[in-house]
Amino acid sequence: MPLIEVKNDVCFETTMNKKLVLALEDHGIGIMHRCGGNARCTTCRVEVIAGAPTPAQREEQDILLRKGFDPQRFRLSCQIRVQGDLVVEPLLTVETAGMDAGPRPAD
Ligand code: FES
Repeated sequence: MPLIEVKNDVCFETTMNKKLVLALEDHGIGIMHRCGGNARCTTCRVEVIAGAPTPAQREEQDILLRKGFDPQRFRLSCQIRVQGDLVVEPLLTVETAGMDAGPRPAD
């Protein structure tokens, strides 16, 4: 089972092909997902510190660039299917944003 390490926080195993945003949320990380996992809001973005997530599709790269985030460094956790070990840092959480996470993305 893939291992997810959240920088300066928890480390946990998750199931293969689970969306990263759901793996984080289900392990107590207050990850945001304001658009419900539709690659529109970028609130679920994480910095990928180590590991090789599934490649970003054009839609994800475009929205990250439009919002000023380097797609080589930042990813939308709602667009990643976990297929191996990752070390990530969520950039926006319920705690830091002071609002609710948004609708839960579909499995
Ligand atoms: S971009 Fe909105 S939840 Fe991922």
